[in-house]
Amino acid sequence: MHETCSISVLPDNRELIVPANAYLHEALDRHGISLTAYCDGMGLCGKCIVQIKLADESEPPITEADKKFLSEEEIENGYRLACQWRVVCNAEITIPEKSRVNHLNILIKDAGESPLELSSDFSSDRPYGFAFDIGTTTVVGSLVDYQTGKTVGVSSYLNGQQKYGADVISRISHSITGTGLDELNSELIQTINKIIDDVLNESSISPDKIAEIVLTGNTVMLHSLHKESMENMAHLPFEPSYTKAKNIFAAKMGIKIDSKTKLYSFPVVSGFVGGDTVSCMLATDMDKSEKKQLIIDIGTNGEVALGNKNGWTTTSAPAGPAFEGARISAGMRGANGAIEHVQITDDKMIIDVIGQQPPVGICGTGLIDIAAELLNRGILDVTGRINDIDELPDGTPDWLSKRIVDQNGENAFLLFDPDIDEYFKNGAEPKKIYITQRDLRELQLAKAAVATACDLILKHENIKLEDVCCVLLAGAFGNYLRPANARRIGLIPNVPMDKIHFIGNAASTGAKRVLVSQKERKRVERIAEEAGHIELAADPGFQMSYADQMFYPDGAVVL
Ligand code: FES
Repeated sequence: MHETCSISVLPDNRELIVPANAYLHEALDRHGISLTAYCDGMGLCGKCIVQIKLADESEPPITEADKKFLSEEEIENGYRLACQWRVVCNAEITIPEKSRVNHLNILIKDAGESPLELSSDFSSDRPYGFAFDIGTTTVVGSLVDYQTGKTVGVSSYLNGQQKYGADVISRISHSITGTGLDELNSELIQTINKIIDDVLNESSISPDKIAEIVLTGNTVMLHSLHKESMENMAHLPFEPSYTKAKNIFAAKMGIKIDSKTKLYSFPVVSGFVGGDTVSCMLATDMDKSEKKQLIIDIGTNGEVALGNKNGWTTTSAPAGPAFEGARISAGMRGANGAIEHVQITDDKMIIDVIGQQPPVGICGTGLIDIAAELLNRGILDVTGRINDIDELPDGTPDWLSKRIVDQNGENAFLLFDPDIDEYFKNGAEPKKIYITQRDLRELQLAKAAVATACDLILKHENIKLEDVCCVLLAGAFGNYLRPANARRIGLIPNVPMDKIHFIGNAASTGAKRVLVSQKERKRVERIAEEAGHIELAADPGFQMSYADQMFYPDGAVVL
């Protein structure tokens, strides 16, 4: 065998020399080409698909994982899972867009928000500060001008840690392997550095003008930032290594900034309720509110907080990555080509595709929409089963019932058919897209986790749903949801629509407030310290509630 092999990467037109016998996804990664690898290369997610043409024109080997995720036609055309193939000879690799970790750079000059109110207790001898929200998926950094309180630059990248798995559980698992924690830390610091670099270059501001960097994020992200052990977060009672806020010089952590720039990172509540939730609670003034608020942040790990000025409690639910498209047969992130919204009218399917292009898959919001629509039409029953055609309600139009098809002995729903449905014809001819019974089961598991967190926190606090003044949906995913559909499938509580509000990226807002106020900093530390916490998995009511929440609501909604 050769010691190194040459790989031509298309459509990038790059020639790479890689060590022989390396797994392809790792070899590409070392050259800065990151593939979507939700399962950390274990062959479980089926998202790292590439087309391989071997130089000797032989067929690349086919593994069981390839057979599980690829059609016969794809296998015949040389498509394989990159994490399953070891580079043993020279080859040409074509990477489909949907297999790439996208660079989501959304650098903008002005975030268009209203300026922050500068607190009277605040002073700085330097004119700018950075506020970061470190998400498991995306990292967002905002540059704030202390004079005006305005955000003068923002940049966002996918978190470089994604190659080690999509959710916090896989990151924890990776952190406890040999050099795992160092690798997670290095990826995160590199992502932060790219953002700082972008924003400073774009705004022509030098690093010595930055007084401080404030960072918030979930507990796993903050632990990986500080290289704190996550061993005790891998098992009950999921104890973090630390909970208090940290003050340090940023450059000491490998952040490429001036040596005197300080860094403040948020306190956390527990292993799975982190600084981002605390930041949302600050941004919504939960600790000052007369009425009880319920904050829900839907993501791979769903966090829920309930409270008012008299006290607040938090919990979290491992929803898994279904809302990000993982473990869904045609699932993908909310990127170009993803079906993000679906509507079934009396005579057709209407799909909205991100980027207004031919659809290539479906993202979490689209999945919620289609489940809600199928429930409304009686195609999906309350147990989550796709009905047979002869079980459909009277009056179901023919064109709709014909979309129920058999796939491997189970019903599936034909969501998109290029021969029938309307779509933007400005790209490659799309393929049919199905929603399978298994996809809907994955959604059920994810929505039941979040719904159980809401149910148990209300029960613990002895609060009736009608006594909650508002349900506040936080996070990027929450922003794109159709709340009526999220409510229809039971993902969020059944409250009147006028009580449901989006609070956008409240974690970033909270971080910015802390950046310009010592008072807010004290508040945030008090919120974290005094927060009650329910460990869902250890709660005696958990099993019962989770089993209940697995059902879809019968459709009676509060108007
Ligand atoms: S299947 Fe290859 S990374 Fe998940």
